[in-house]
Amino acid sequence: MTDFQTLLEFIETETGFATSYYDESYLDRRVSARMRRRGVEEYAGYLTLLEEDDDDERAELLDTLSVNVTEFFRDEKVWTALRDVLLELADTVRSIDIWSAACADGREPYSLAMLALDAGLDPRNVSILATDIDEDALARARAGRYESTRTADISDQLGFLDNPQEYVDREGDRAFVVNDRVKDLVTFERHDLITGDPKSGFDLVACRNVCIYIDKQYKLPILDTVSKSLREGGHLVLGQTETLPGEVKERFEAEDPRIRIYSRVADT
Ligand SMILES: C[S@@+](CC[C@H](N)C(=O)[O-])C[C@H]1O[C@@H](n2cnc3c(N)ncnc32)[C@H](O)[C@@H]1O
Repeated sequence: MTDFQTLLEFIETETGFATSYYDESYLDRRVSARMRRRGVEEYAGYLTLLEEDDDDERAELLDTLSVNVTEFFRDEKVWTALRDVLLELADTVRSIDIWSAACADGREPYSLAMLALDAGLDPRNVSILATDIDEDALARARAGRYESTRTADISDQLGFLDNPQEYVDREGDRAFVVNDRVKDLVTFERHDLITGDPKSGFDLVACRNVCIYIDKQYKLPILDTVSKSLREGGHLVLGQTETLPGEVKERFEAEDPRIRIYSRVADT
């Protein structure tokens, strides 16, 4: 076993962060960034530091490894297309079941809820399940409070909507709290897309920007879980740089390949 693999094994057993799910070059970039910060050149030296330094460096490392980066209405053109998908669903099914799989801190499922309300859908007929593997991200999601930072302007992100003030309350200059009209449509739950059971009957599943960080061997189990969770004719939306693995491609038809929206076809 190389020093890097020993280090990854230590991180997995001692911190609970499942390094084995992630792409090694991604992990290497993140770990190396922490090593530079601490002035350590060898993986073995960094392992010693983690063993000795205990909570402080471990917490910094976990923060660096978790990729919870997300936005409200991330990739605007996708949301323009999703508005049409929601309107079509409102015409064809009685109640619309949506799953935001790997929802991070909740901005994606709340965007879906705001979009549904903004498109005039009856809130009684819309329910959104939002799941993630990361309990901290889920706690932030349930709170629904978001603050602008130097690199993320929440007001800008909400600018996709004509009247965002209908869906969020301002707190001071920089913070926004999602209001109950929106929160009421969303239920948060922990779910691991690799080891967790598939769900069933969803009309729309968003599984975006999780497979890009995950080791190749786990992409198929994730997409398998997601595809089994969709009803026939249900819609799947992936992240803008993501593609369907060959093994599940035949279960889908591309609705709009440029923006990675697919529909589930019947099993043959
Ligand atoms: C970059 S965020 C994507 C958030 C959102 N879907 C978006 O596109 O803006 C990736 C999320 O995937 C979650 N994640 C990583 N591995 C996972 C797994 N095995 N099951 C469920 N969620 C996972 C992470 O905790 C993180 O919140």
